[in-house]
Amino acid sequence: MSRPVRAAVFASGSGSNFQALLDAERGSSAPYEIVLLVSDRASAGAIERAGSHQVDSRVVSFRLREMDEVDAELVEALEEAEVEVIFLAGFLRLVPPGVVQRWRGRILNIHPALLPAFGGKGMWGMHVHRAVLDAGARLTGPTVHLVDEIYDRGAILAQWPVPVLQGDTPETLAARVLEVEHRLYPRVAAHLCRAIQRNEKVRPLDAGAEAFIPTDPPLT
Ligand code: GRF
Repeated sequence: MSRPVRAAVFASGSGSNFQALLDAERGSSAPYEIVLLVSDRASAGAIERAGSHQVDSRVVSFRLREMDEVDAELVEALEEAEVEVIFLAGFLRLVPPGVVQRWRGRILNIHPALLPAFGGKGMWGMHVHRAVLDAGARLTGPTVHLVDEIYDRGAILAQWPVPVLQGDTPETLAARVLEVEHRLYPRVAAHLCRAIQRNEKVRPLDAGAEAFIPTDPPLT
């Protein structure tokens, strides 16, 4: 059996998706091993989660710093930890170009709407869910995609449709989507890592693939 792929998670906030990735890693024979948590905020809840799971964490500040400097610091930290794959989990900064270049095709992000709709700069958190409701969309749901130099633009690997219900507020919608995110992200992360282990190009998951179950009701 191949050894697990060494992963870093980047998170700015509470890190519930980070937790889902950790739980999937600990609960089964995941093809990845999270070795580093990177945050741009010292107060991120994700840092505490890392500590309680014995995962090293590193705060890399982006504030008032040149992108080149941040980029070099990140590349150094990731190389030192021998990171092979990066999972963004609620990371609110643009990944610097040197990191994208060095780990191209090996960086995933989860976005809480069906890209390419409702994505791009400024589309994060409740802004996304409010925009979905304002547009009168009947369907939303998370997208997992590869990361490139532009926010939310990289190749889509999986999406999971979630209904918008009458009377939804941004908060109720966010909660419904987040529940599905926690189920989808570890599966897509594992899918990418299996492709890396096999030295294959990662393909999008489709309805026939083991990891993507669009008929599985997101609500119980
Ligand atoms: C999630 O909705 C994710 O899709 C987006 O940021 C949020 C992060 O939430 N990129 P959490 O910190 O994982 O709870």
